Amino acid sequence: MPRFLFDFVEGGADDEVTVHANRRAFGDYSFRARTLVDVSTRDLSTTLLGQPLALPVILGPVGLAGLLAPRGEVLAAEAAARKETVFVLSTMSVCTIEEVAAAAPASRWFQLYIWKDREVTRSLVERARAAGYSALCLTVDVPDMGNRERDVRNGFVVPPRPTPSNVLDLLLHLGWVMRMTRSPRATFGNFLDTKALSRRDAVSVAGYTSRQFDQSVTWADVEWLRGLWPGPLVLKGITTAEDARRAVQHGVEAIVVSNHGGRQLDGLPGALDVLPEIVEAVEGRAEIVLDGGVRRGSDVVKALALGARACMIGRPFLYGLAAGGQSGVELVLELLRKEIDRTLLLLGCPRVAQLDASYLRGPEGAH
Ligand code: FNR
Repeated sequence: MPRFLFDFVEGGADDEVTVHANRRAFGDYSFRARTLVDVSTRDLSTTLLGQPLALPVILGPVGLAGLLAPRGEVLAAEAAARKETVFVLSTMSVCTIEEVAAAAPASRWFQLYIWKDREVTRSLVERARAAGYSALCLTVDVPDMGNRERDVRNGFVVPPRPTPSNVLDLLLHLGWVMRMTRSPRATFGNFLDTKALSRRDAVSVAGYTSRQFDQSVTWADVEWLRGLWPGPLVLKGITTAEDARRAVQHGVEAIVVSNHGGRQLDGLPGALDVLPEIVEAVEGRAEIVLDGGVRRGSDVVKALALGARACMIGRPFLYGLAAGGQSGVELVLELLRKEIDRTLLLLGCPRVAQLDASYLRGPEGAH
């Protein structure tokens, strides 16, 4: 991959302390395995918002996934459908709401950012509803973009444009660059029809999004969305018990415990660090999904043991997409499925539904 694209995916905000905290948090827990349990058959299946999942891992919303492979979001949605799980389409996707819906009729959620222009926001929600997305996932941790210094250093714009610092990188990856530049749409497909974006403009992702995102969004807007969206509502980006309680009071059906993969507020704890306080605050009144740093099946098992119903992945499936298109994403899900299965087998817990905190030793050695 060209360096500027890899950095866009891999990077986080500021010093990337939270990016690293996400991984470290999984290492802070170890397993308490049971022996002499019949683990000859295992069951990885669960449900999320009433939809069956073959494994407790879903594909999270990522902007510009379509830069990593032509029709990237469609390919990822198809991979999720093949593996019987959910794909969450980002507002900032290259492929449109309708294209992804046409290609992948199975479980899809739509991730929403509330824009300053509430009519644009309303029209996104209405389009997602008309296209049959089953849940609306409102991301609440982006009043503006985090300070992604790798992107600043690389002069990251789409389609790519040469600058003194990236020209060698572009030349070395000419195939990628040609494809991205020639593609009829190398920016945010959902807004091509609006005046905000012109097909020929090179768009600074940070600059563009900062102009659109509304810093005055509050819980009143969650109420407003309730009126627009008849289906399940999910809030993504909750990291405290206070907000989790508030979300439950507003009747949301699910919460994604997430620090946006360390791309927003640097200095937040690892996502797994805050999961227990949120599980305790929610008291089973909403389903809980965790994301941030999930790289192994054993990570998923730890999150489920602490009370998550499923995990989301971001970067891992993007690397699968960049390396192998749809089959690359399927392979990532398959690797995770195998690893979860083996972890359950060796842990002495045959069903994900049976996982609880007694299978873990916590950071203080307690469980
Ligand atoms: C994201 N993420 C994200 N989240 C969201 O709600 N809307 C979005 O448009 C994006 N865009 C985006 C782009 C890229 C390149 C990445 C890596 C991430 C955050 C994403 O949904 C998820 O929270 C994190 O990626 C989870 O962390 P891991 O699995 O990448 O460690």
